[in-house]
Amino acid sequence: MIDTVVFPVAGLGTRFLPATKAIPKEMLPVVDKPLIQYGVEEAVAAGATRLVFVTGRTKNAIADHFDMAFELETELEQRGKHELLEVARQTVPDGVECLYVRQRQALGLGHAVRCARSLVSGEAFGLILPDDLIDNGGDGVLAQLVRHHEQTGASVISVEEVPREKTSSYGVVDVESFTGRSGRICGMVEKPEPAEAPSNLAIVGRYVLDARIFELLEETRPDQRGEIQITDAIASLLQERPVDAYRFEGRHYDCGSKLGFLQATVDLGRKHPELGGEFSAWLENQ
Ligand code: UTP
Repeated sequence: MIDTVVFPVAGLGTRFLPATKAIPKEMLPVVDKPLIQYGVEEAVAAGATRLVFVTGRTKNAIADHFDMAFELETELEQRGKHELLEVARQTVPDGVECLYVRQRQALGLGHAVRCARSLVSGEAFGLILPDDLIDNGGDGVLAQLVRHHEQTGASVISVEEVPREKTSSYGVVDVESFTGRSGRICGMVEKPEPAEAPSNLAIVGRYVLDARIFELLEETRPDQRGEIQITDAIASLLQERPVDAYRFEGRHYDCGSKLGFLQATVDLGRKHPELGGEFSAWLENQ
């Protein structure tokens, strides 16, 4: 079982300025829930009981979201708004622990993960990048990865096919061959030009990683932009231990980009239990 999931939420979110001047992009809401809440629900559905948030300068918004909101809850209770009170209370279920660690400088995703080291036990752990929103009618993607990890003992990374001309926006994996949804990774490159890309299988932000990754991250040197990349550390991990790619079931939205964020908003808005019908009808008349 994977009990700990790490959420790096300390990026600068420059593509969303000025919205991200005072709040992290992971607090931007898609319809009525912030991105981070979708990620947390996916982690809990995969069996996680310890959530580790690697926060930056806008730490408070995340910590407050998962904390008790005393004044708000008292007010809702006095007004008899019991359903809303539950919504406000259940941002994280009882029995799930939230822990926070600070990344003092945004030195890359690998560096952010390294900051979580002291809060992760020696076991494999989950890693969710909440700006990759994955909509899925059934099993969340992390649960799919955890199941594969339990069956094989391998570290697992979620991947999806992207158009070749877009490989330079992603970490890209080289896979020996696939059996069903999974295949052993034999190489990986961060943001390769299409001509140099080993495949068109791009990494999406869900991982189950062997805790050995923390030692490898200590040895990983920054790239030309001064950032420590998780991809470089995983490239070292797969020299020592099995790492599998997993083609997940679900629709991925890159909510770190404005276009992906809008697409997620429209699609999830159409499906929303309260307003989906009205919103879809309105869209059709535009
Ligand atoms: P991105 O690559 O999307 O970077 O980070 P960013 O800074 O958040 O956004 P832009 O590109 O400036 O608009 C991917 C994930 O890694 C986290 C982010 O919070 C996001 O979840 N991250 C990135 C960190 O926690 N620390 C970092 O130093 C970099």
